[in-house]
Amino acid sequence: MRQMNFVPDAINRVSYYECVAYLITEALMLNIIPESYKEISTIHKLITEAFDQVKVAELVDIIRQSENFIPELSLVAVENEEVLGHILFSQITIETPNQTIPSLALAPLAVKSSHQRQGIGSRLVEVGLSKCREFDYPLVIVVGEPAYYQRFGFQTAGKFGLRSSLSFPDEVFMILELKPAALTNITGTVRYPAYFQDV
Ligand SMILES: CC(C)(COP(=O)(O)OP(=O)(O)OC[C@H]1O[C@@H](n2cnc3c(N)ncnc32)[C@H](O)[C@@H]1OP(=O)(O)O)[C@@H](O)C(=O)NCCC(=O)NCCS
Repeated sequence: MRQMNFVPDAINRVSYYECVAYLITEALMLNIIPESYKEISTIHKLITEAFDQVKVAELVDIIRQSENFIPELSLVAVENEEVLGHILFSQITIETPNQTIPSLALAPLAVKSSHQRQGIGSRLVEVGLSKCREFDYPLVIVVGEPAYYQRFGFQTAGKFGLRSSLSFPDEVFMILELKPAALTNITGTVRYPAYFQDV
């Protein structure tokens, strides 16, 4: 009986220290920071490779030139001066019967093909969302894989009575509250700028 208790404790201790070491290594090596103009062509290439098409990278270039671009919310994951991932949050609006709510669209998120499934995408989302909170936006919308985005708290937007100005399957159209109760009594339309239409 004692031995049965001893083994799981030992395993837990090892896992704990391994986990702390992993987090420290990660923290020291991977930086999530706003993009710089020098990285723009690298980001374009990374997105094109990750999505296996150029349209998403072109969308980022268009957003960068638009009034909806927020430089501090275009973030890169950098390790040893190499850009390994990118995430962009840009402004969109939610139109309700009595108000227009400035919100953010998370689009796109891309990690360099050779470095996927190592937690870089998750770090970009987590750090990105905390930056969005600093900017005081109430809501973030994403169109993406539910199995991936649910882990960050995104929920199907349709269940709150929200529609999209573009046509997406219900399950991929998701929303996250950045402020408590931001979705209370909000029904209406997420209005995407026209440049999202071609992607
Ligand atoms: C999707 C993407 C950004 C994820 O980044 P990443 O660094 O590879 O992801 P992470 O390592 O943080 O993934 C963590 C988890 O997500 C899962 N995951 C990764 N990509 C996924 C996907 N497309 N669908 C569902 N789950 C996915 C992983 O299996 C892992 O799960 P686990 O923790 O249960 O093992 C990256 O794979 C990518 O750039 N893909 C191509 C572009 C793309 O599809 N972007 C998303 C547009 S919405």
